[in-house]
Amino acid sequence: MNAMTALKIATQTHHSLLEANPHLHRLMSDRLTRTDYVWLLSRMYGFYVPLEARLSQFEPLWQQCGLDFNRRRKVPLLEQDLLASGLTAAALEQLPHCPSIPLVQSFAQAVGVLYVLEGATLGGQMISRHLALQLGLRLEREATFFSSYRSETGSMWRQLSVQINSYAETAFSHTDMATMILSAQATFQTLDDWLGHNDLN
Ligand code: HEM
Repeated sequence: MNAMTALKIATQTHHSLLEANPHLHRLMSDRLTRTDYVWLLSRMYGFYVPLEARLSQFEPLWQQCGLDFNRRRKVPLLEQDLLASGLTAAALEQLPHCPSIPLVQSFAQAVGVLYVLEGATLGGQMISRHLALQLGLRLEREATFFSSYRSETGSMWRQLSVQINSYAETAFSHTDMATMILSAQATFQTLDDWLGHNDLN
């Protein structure tokens, strides 16, 4: 089985649990407000900033995979959306960062994390359509994170799949594969915890 299929199968339950998180559930509901949306963006920002910083330490290995890591960064998009929503640059700097992001000490762990962060762009297509309808957001200015690659979303995902599969096939041992999967599962789990489960009613 290739790496991307193994990741998909091993994280299906984690994805379902995350989707059911009250804040993500609200995101897709007809009760969503701009305040909910900005809160969620702030939390995503606090998760992505420290995690992308860890992933960027593997730049030479991303290059070896043929992957343009900078092109896949989401922090600039989150910043754009938060600033467009009225947050000041000073307020952005004050946003809390998740203190318990997954460990990224090996490239196998980094690949597991990147799989989850990139996969969010797939659900993002559905989410951004909902944001435009529900809140009247202009996607290219106020929802760049969720609409990230826009018409290129499918091709960016297929490219990632080819790159990860071929790298893993030649360079990953069975232990590396297991490490990668645990890391993807931990990424889903820590994001779910970071968003929290408080009752929104
Ligand atoms: C309300 C929130 C979400 C919804 C409704 C949603 C929905 C979806 C949908 C429909 C797909 C499949 C797309 C396709 O096959 O073309 C998908 C895939 C995926 N999503 Fe989500 N998603 C949500 C949130 C997230 C978040 C926050 C993350 C991670 C941070 C995430 C990670 C993934 C991953 C990794 C995949 C790829 C699964 C595979 O290997 O094929 N999703 N999501």
